[in-house]
Amino acid sequence: MHAMTTITGISGSLRSSGYKFSSDDYSHSQLQISKFIKQNPKGLFANSEISLMAALMGSHQKGDVTTKIVNLRDYFKGSKPPKKINKLKNIINYSDGIIISTPVYFGDYSSLIRKFIELIRSDSKLLSTIKGKMVCILTCGAKRNGGQETALIYTLIDMLNLGFIGLGNGPDSTAQYGGTVIAGQKGTAFEDDLGMKICISTGRHIAKVAKLKRLNNIELKPVIHFWILQEKKRLASDLVMPILNRMNKKGAKTSIYPLYQEKIAACLACDICPTKTDGNKSHCKINLKTDYFFNKKQEMIKADIIIPTLVSSVKNKDVISVYKEFIERTRKIRRNNYQFTMKWIVPFILLEVGSQEHLDFRMITSLIRHNTMIYKPIILYLHKGKLLNLYEVHKEFHTMLTIYHTSFSGISKQKDQCLSDYYIPFGY
Ligand SMILES: Cc1cc2nc3c(=O)[nH]c(=O)nc-3n(C[C@H](O)[C@H](O)[C@H](O)COP(=O)(O)O)c2cc1C
Repeated sequence: MHAMTTITGISGSLRSSGYKFSSDDYSHSQLQISKFIKQNPKGLFANSEISLMAALMGSHQKGDVTTKIVNLRDYFKGSKPPKKINKLKNIINYSDGIIISTPVYFGDYSSLIRKFIELIRSDSKLLSTIKGKMVCILTCGAKRNGGQETALIYTLIDMLNLGFIGLGNGPDSTAQYGGTVIAGQKGTAFEDDLGMKICISTGRHIAKVAKLKRLNNIELKPVIHFWILQEKKRLASDLVMPILNRMNKKGAKTSIYPLYQEKIAACLACDICPTKTDGNKSHCKINLKTDYFFNKKQEMIKADIIIPTLVSSVKNKDVISVYKEFIERTRKIRRNNYQFTMKWIVPFILLEVGSQEHLDFRMITSLIRHNTMIYKPIILYLHKGKLLNLYEVHKEFHTMLTIYHTSFSGISKQKDQCLSDYYIPFGY
């Protein structure tokens, strides 16, 4: 096993420079990189490459990190068969984490990123080696609201489905989905100062988590909480029981939280939790003794793996949902020094065929902001009262637990290391 943590940046720009980067080009300060970019003829670097330079500079700040920038344009040329593909596969195999940087094309990622995803998807060996590797995403579009977030989410979802573990940008910036940059003309991304800062934070975050994962030697039984946030006639509760029993036999400590039965008031959007902090503690205006967050919040924080469980039904008859109120109320937990930091989130959706709520995406986009690690959603399909893929769902839970045990066991207990050196409350 190689000793250094390896983070690889993958550029999906069709107008990448062809420049062969060495880490000397971007492992220094933001100012030096900015000079380096300006010394080169304007327009040489694609904005996706510049975003990557910033992100990998952030990774270097964590120390003992090896980095590399890969231009997908060097491997995929038009409709020709891909070149030197084994080299690309080896690079992915040796990386602890990868940062994908894509231009926004019609609100989505580029065709080069698509080819990269298809390459991994078609290679069963690669698919097994990438399981549990980490991924972060950067996107660059010409306009404000040009689709940076949509492209980012689509890339993230496809990478999760391949087996990567998704991270956002770190709490030293905004702790959202990853890097989003505004720049149109080639070579101009460095002018978006906030965009660059968020890319740096993204690179720093993935390096930090990858390093923790490498050093991680705590063997413990993961504490797993199923949060039932949307239920229909005990459908989810009854289905979760056998899954839970199997996990417990494999050494997990699993509990079900039927949150849909609890009293959970909606967030009042007051000024208390974002502004009134007492040391690291933030407060909540809702003081009802019967409210779930008043009484039982501490239990939630003990989980290593959180499985938000929701029934997504075509008709809303008999559906009880608290997921909106619940997620809103977690704002205080986030403001309270990111108490869900480093927990795994594994959305579990019981999806009636024909329902279009996309609750799996929504759990990802809401909960990644808690500085968590996202595992691919597990979906159980229901059609006319029949469960279509129960066997595969059990297998998915088994795989998830195996990856957690082998690579991440105990990582959420290192939360303090994850936060202590950089958390500054950012914004409102
Ligand atoms: C086919 C095409 C579609 C595009 N679609 C969008 C878009 O939806 N939103 C946007 O903000 N910019 C869009 N752009 C602009 C690019 O995202 C922008 O120029 C970006 O900086 C390119 O990154 P690169 O330099 O890494 O290639 C599009 C550009 C092309 C060529």
